[in-house]
Amino acid sequence: KRACSRIAPFLPPGLCDSTEMTDRETWATRIGFILASVGSAVGLGNIWRFPYQTAEFGGAAFLLVYLVAVLVIGVPAILGEFVIGRRADISAISAFDALDRPGWRIVGALGVFGGFWTLSYYSVVGGWVFRYIGASATGSYLESPGAYFISVSAGPEAVAFHGAFMLVTVGIVAFGIRGGIEKATKVMVPSIVLLLVGLAAYAFTLSGAEAGYQYFLSPDIDLLLSNYQTVVPAAVGQALFSLSLGFAVMITYASYIDDDENLFIDGGVIALTNTFIGITAGLVVFPLLAVQGGGYGEAGPGAIFVSIPTALSEVPFGTAVGFVFFLIVAVAALSSAISLLEVVVSYLVDSYGFERRRTSVLLGGIVFALGVPSATETAWLEWFDAIGVNLLLPLAVLLTVVFVGWVLADDAVEEVRRGADGFDALGPIWLWSIRSIVFLAVLGTVALSVFELTGAPL
Ligand code: TRP
Repeated sequence: KRACSRIAPFLPPGLCDSTEMTDRETWATRIGFILASVGSAVGLGNIWRFPYQTAEFGGAAFLLVYLVAVLVIGVPAILGEFVIGRRADISAISAFDALDRPGWRIVGALGVFGGFWTLSYYSVVGGWVFRYIGASATGSYLESPGAYFISVSAGPEAVAFHGAFMLVTVGIVAFGIRGGIEKATKVMVPSIVLLLVGLAAYAFTLSGAEAGYQYFLSPDIDLLLSNYQTVVPAAVGQALFSLSLGFAVMITYASYIDDDENLFIDGGVIALTNTFIGITAGLVVFPLLAVQGGGYGEAGPGAIFVSIPTALSEVPFGTAVGFVFFLIVAVAALSSAISLLEVVVSYLVDSYGFERRRTSVLLGGIVFALGVPSATETAWLEWFDAIGVNLLLPLAVLLTVVFVGWVLADDAVEEVRRGADGFDALGPIWLWSIRSIVFLAVLGTVALSVFELTGAPL
């Protein structure tokens, strides 16, 4: 069913010359799959969103709830996506056909659409980061960080940097699973870990850092108990976003693995590494914020782009530290962006026989156009973010959870056990957790988001 050839006359030449349908790729190694998934998980969510969410919701108390949410909600949910992807052996939307439940294609479609949507403004923020790498080298943001951010975050130059970020993303995805994503993330993820640990060690030497650790690491339980209605959904949302759930990334990535892998171990390692990197990012950001003395609560998208440069003007080696910091953020953002683009590319390649390279370029161009409003006006970016992360994401996760928990049900248990000898007992426990804790927590998050977005009183 090469639908592509049927509409070929209306498409740019060569778009349908694919061989991937008959000869589908797989990851070269198991560690390659794990690193690619970690690369997807670790991104702006860890280094940009996580610290400012933590700051907004009261520091260590938020961290505590986030850790619990990763363990009891994030890990079962990521296994759910792995099960769909590996059993179907095909990307997001068609996976539901392959599992004989074509009516559920809408879940895959929602994920693909959500990922496309999210990538459009994610790339704008990625463009800011590119810009800040250069600005670190010249020190141009040190004079007055707030004014600098306002001058570069929106407008023609922001559009250009957003374009540059998409160009690199397309460049990696065009080379496919082994030659592009796996190769790139094999270098990217270890670099992120090394550099970030280095910066955390540096931050440890700063005078005044203790206040930052205190804020980040010792939870104020009273604060948590009195604010749980806002803290808990925010932490659950952050856990889902951080593990790249909902937008079919993990379905797609798992469709390229072999049947003999132990999914429990893979999921656990990915969640653990992602959490470790998130915490390490906090150990860099919070001491810097403490030194800068301007408080932790500078909320919104500008958070690290204003507070970090403010701190950098006051610490030893500020320029070099800034350069490394924004370099890490850029690499992390890219390794996530490629996963979002891969979901859509693989759908067209797998299901319609599109040729990968040309498809990557074409879709990258469309995502670029969709992101232009966000690069022109920051209010648009916040709107895209609110719809993407607060609505589309939990909704897609909810539908996925229902599909795995009640539609696949016993088949899901069979699949999760495949290749996991010795872990048999975990299968039914996992299904039970999907049907209870995970389902309720995600349902609650969706409900709260809908109330919040529609302004209905609760
Ligand atoms: N997890 C990434 C981050 O923390 C962002 C991301 C990449 C993502 N792919 C995703 C989020 C899919 C949700 C769904 O920055």
